[in-house]
Amino acid sequence: MGSIAGNYGACIFVAVLLILSIMPCEAQLSSSFYDNTCPKALSTIRTATRKAVSRERRMAASLIRLHFHDCFVQGCDASILLDDSSSIQSEKNAPNNLNSARGYEVIHDVKSQVESICPGIVSCADILAVAARDASVAVGGPTWTVKLGRRDSTTSGLSQVSSNLPSFRDSLDRLISLFGSKGLSTRDMVALSGSHTIGQARCVTFRDRIYDNGTDIDAGFASTRRRRCPADNGDGDDNLAALDLVTPNSFDNNYFKNLIQKKGLLQSDQVLFSGGSTDSIVSEYSKNRKTFSSDFALAMAKEHLGGSAPLLSLAGQDATDAFVAYHPGVLWSRLDDFFIGFHLKDYIVSEVSKDYRRLVYEFLKMGLFEKKGHGVFVTLCAMAVMFSACIYGVLGCDNTWVHLASGALMGLFWIQSGWIGHDSGHYQVMMNGRLNCFAQVLSGNCLAELEDAVDGPGSMGQHLTPPRLERNGDGIPLTCPTPPQVWDGDEKQIYIIGTGMG
Ligand code: HEM
Repeated sequence: MGSIAGNYGACIFVAVLLILSIMPCEAQLSSSFYDNTCPKALSTIRTATRKAVSRERRMAASLIRLHFHDCFVQGCDASILLDDSSSIQSEKNAPNNLNSARGYEVIHDVKSQVESICPGIVSCADILAVAARDASVAVGGPTWTVKLGRRDSTTSGLSQVSSNLPSFRDSLDRLISLFGSKGLSTRDMVALSGSHTIGQARCVTFRDRIYDNGTDIDAGFASTRRRRCPADNGDGDDNLAALDLVTPNSFDNNYFKNLIQKKGLLQSDQVLFSGGSTDSIVSEYSKNRKTFSSDFALAMAKEHLGGSAPLLSLAGQDATDAFVAYHPGVLWSRLDDFFIGFHLKDYIVSEVSKDYRRLVYEFLKMGLFEKKGHGVFVTLCAMAVMFSACIYGVLGCDNTWVHLASGALMGLFWIQSGWIGHDSGHYQVMMNGRLNCFAQVLSGNCLAELEDAVDGPGSMGQHLTPPRLERNGDGIPLTCPTPPQVWDGDEKQIYIIGTGMG
């Protein structure tokens, strides 16, 4: 009995350790991201999107497509919204977007409304994602939970547009591999293409198909479409036709029914039902609207619609408060090396930052910021004990459970070591300079790299780009090893730490 209870205990112990060791410590996207900092953000976006769609029904399609074109190029980072400037070549001018992508002014309008209630809080990338969802709902399409917390990019991905976005000439294999490269399955790809159940396309995108006299197009459908799309290149290029000829303004499954009747408008639509591996998915969706809707919602809800990593860190943004929060005063003098320029005159210090500055000021007056080096010393001693126990457990005992527990203990050891390395990247962890250097070299340079490999680059990269206060409110430290510098809430000079972490 005793040994069974002991075994269970050991199992639970190991399981708890394992769970603890894989718990993420980085910022994550979350649907409640703005609940505290801008509680009305989502309702404001919803109302503005609904209004825009009721003014012009096609806008629903355009907003969904805008989000898709944003996400497939450098991730969902609103880079598609950046205009041409001396340092930016706008994605808007790429062939896939020029005279084609629409809805910029709606997003601009929504952003202005959101800014008026919570300045500097809600990213354009999140607005694009939420507006796409609300647009779908506005035309009878599915809804899904949008995870939030994306950061807007300050760089455009013009050169990547044509290789990252699909073309109406793409083969089925190419579509499958392109979506696959974004983490989306073939089924996701077919479901997402179903958004062509709304919206329109220009003659230039389907001319070849309707004049091809091929066997994969319904002859009557081709001749109807030819009426408003002349055969000659350049003639009527921008004339529009509905992507779904039956119900172009409703988000239903007619798109798939059309494909089965060889009435897909784009070549890239019809390839989904042309004797290839996706025929069965198209048939399934054509028969079952609910399955299509739920698959579409699932694919859209993937954290970033298959875009590569969303930007969660701080490159190119005001990092001053966060830098002060996480670094010792002695590093303040080094900050000038990173100074890029003065922020725009209309920079508004957010309420979160103001609160934080007040709090730090009060704590300073109360003398709460004190150097305490012995905490790390105690941790190092505990680590030495853990390490010795592991070695003894593995070499000195035969019992399997002891070996397992030793392995788990070793995991804890690495984690603690990683944290010391991490902390020493921010401030002096030992009272004595030489000892600090030793802790850094041992933990930081040797062991922490292992921690980084397991945990991902985020925790170490954070030394360079500390999280922004507004976005990581929970992480604001209430204790600090050395006195930070403070300035009053109206100070305008800020530092932009542009390390480009993504
Ligand atoms: C599978 C590969 C895809 C290809 C080759 C493709 C291509 C196209 C093309 C050529 C147009 C017409 C553009 C124009 O005439 O200017 C279009 C429109 C559209 N696309 Fe796609 N697309 C694909 C996937 C998607 C996905 C995944 C979504 C969204 C999740 C999407 C949403 C839309 C919408 C809603 C429209 C209509 C836009 C409007 O009316 O303003 N497409 N697409």
